[in-house]
Amino acid sequence: MTFEAIAARLKEKLFLSSMMGKCDAEFCALRAQGAAMVQFGAFVLRKEREERTTYWPDPEKSRFAAFMKDQFDRFRALAGDAVGADNVPLVCANIFPCTDEDVVNSAEAFIGAGGDIYELNAHGGIGGDRERGTGRMLFMPEHTEKLMRWARLLVEAGGPVIVKARGGVIPDYTDHVRQLEQIGVRAFHINVRDDDTKRQDVKLLESVRGATGMLLLASGYVTDPPSAKALFDAGADCVGIASAASGDPNVFERMASG
Ligand SMILES: Cc1cc2nc3c(=O)[nH]c(=O)nc-3n(C[C@H](O)[C@H](O)[C@H](O)COP(=O)(O)O)c2cc1C
Repeated sequence: MTFEAIAARLKEKLFLSSMMGKCDAEFCALRAQGAAMVQFGAFVLRKEREERTTYWPDPEKSRFAAFMKDQFDRFRALAGDAVGADNVPLVCANIFPCTDEDVVNSAEAFIGAGGDIYELNAHGGIGGDRERGTGRMLFMPEHTEKLMRWARLLVEAGGPVIVKARGGVIPDYTDHVRQLEQIGVRAFHINVRDDDTKRQDVKLLESVRGATGMLLLASGYVTDPPSAKALFDAGADCVGIASAASGDPNVFERMASG
């Protein structure tokens, strides 16, 4: 699917934002009603890890592709039964690579597995990120070059890409989003939860909106129609829900009607 077709389906809609250890085929399918997209994962790629789960899958390219294909096929079958084949949400996976090789292999595996849009996790933490320059640390000045290199590799891999960040890592995201846009990234997701105030950091979202024409996804403390509207009003094209969807599988259906 082209990026334009994906963007048209996401505009002014809600999506299930990734939750590590939760967002697998069954969990996503139960939340398909009213969601424009579901985000699987995070899928963390770590060769060194022995234990394998649905969020620490085997990173070897063909096995990772087979794992994702199984997840995506099962999701589409279950969601199709629940909401009808024409209403199945777009399939995204939030992927946490640790090396250049992981980036390229996971992007090719994702496309091969039938995913619609890849999300680079430059948001989370799995331990050791500071030294390795992974997850949210990709936004730190000493790792910006790597973030841009990975973004370029993903753009070259040919599939639509979202880069995901969280607020509070650096004071100002505007240079990063401008650089990402120049490289050819077309979509950016910002988690605007402010853990200190326990509120949405609307100013952060507005500053990102002012810096970029990329498709802008935002998540953070969306629990009801007014909190979703606050993010749309601040410039989000598409609004994500994680926590509130965890306990309430009907949240999208409820919100879409509100
Ligand atoms: C239990 C849980 C697990 C999460 N796991 C991930 C993850 O694996 N990758 C990621 O990028 N964000 C992850 N997030 C962040 C969410 O996708 C989302 O951006 C953030 O929680 C803000 O939305 P919310 O306030 O609706 O929860 C997680 C959030 C929660 C609550």
